[in-house]
Amino acid sequence: MTCRIAPSILSADFAHLADDIARLEAGGADWIHVDVMDGRFVPNLSFGAKVIETVRKLTKLPLDVHLMVVEPENYFDTFANAGANNMTIHVEAAPHLHRQLARIRELGCGAGVALNPSTPLDWVREVAPDLDVLLIMTVNPGFGGQSFIASSVDKVRRARLLLTETRSRAALEVDGGIGRSTIEQVWRAGADTFVAGNAVFSAADPRAEISTLRALCAERA
Ligand code: DX5
Ligand code: ZN
Repeated sequence: MTCRIAPSILSADFAHLADDIARLEAGGADWIHVDVMDGRFVPNLSFGAKVIETVRKLTKLPLDVHLMVVEPENYFDTFANAGANNMTIHVEAAPHLHRQLARIRELGCGAGVALNPSTPLDWVREVAPDLDVLLIMTVNPGFGGQSFIASSVDKVRRARLLLTETRSRAALEVDGGIGRSTIEQVWRAGADTFVAGNAVFSAADPRAEISTLRALCAERA
């Protein structure tokens, strides 16, 4: 099994976004993670369709859009048109998950569900076979640069079991506080896709950091 590294542009320098994206590409990033925050689901604002559209013009890499918003269905069409490849919504903000995931797929995007640290894994059991991405938050969403929550490792292990049991082929993604000191344990627990914001962008050489993180995932059977 190989891992995917998905740098989060939340930590990018927006005055030099084109340079930053080029650096991520040169470093071998697999996906670009785009964090959309509405100031309601999470206590912070970030960006929306305009930035997705801009990033779309800067790279051919898949855009992995993480919607930390209430009523995410209001954005599906716009974000798909702006060039999103995956759209991941929060189960806590999506009471009609089955319908919402179906709509994301109808728009030609991969459909993902994210779980906050306090949300039980069972909340996604019924839709697991329909998922392209299962995102386990390893911090409380809203900000980059937070510390990894250690109890997430066991949740990731149980999430991997859930995907196996339900024969789901979803990517198992983790997001928050992922870096040199945490990636290996979540990889061993069964995650295959790693969002990294601060770890990549605060590194002296973001390109090399992507390889370093990837190398730490190299030895699982
Ligand atoms: C947090 C966001 C993350 C964030 C991760 O709410 O969903 O994607 O950018 O940042 P780091 O890797 O710095 O914890
Ligand atoms: Zn995210």
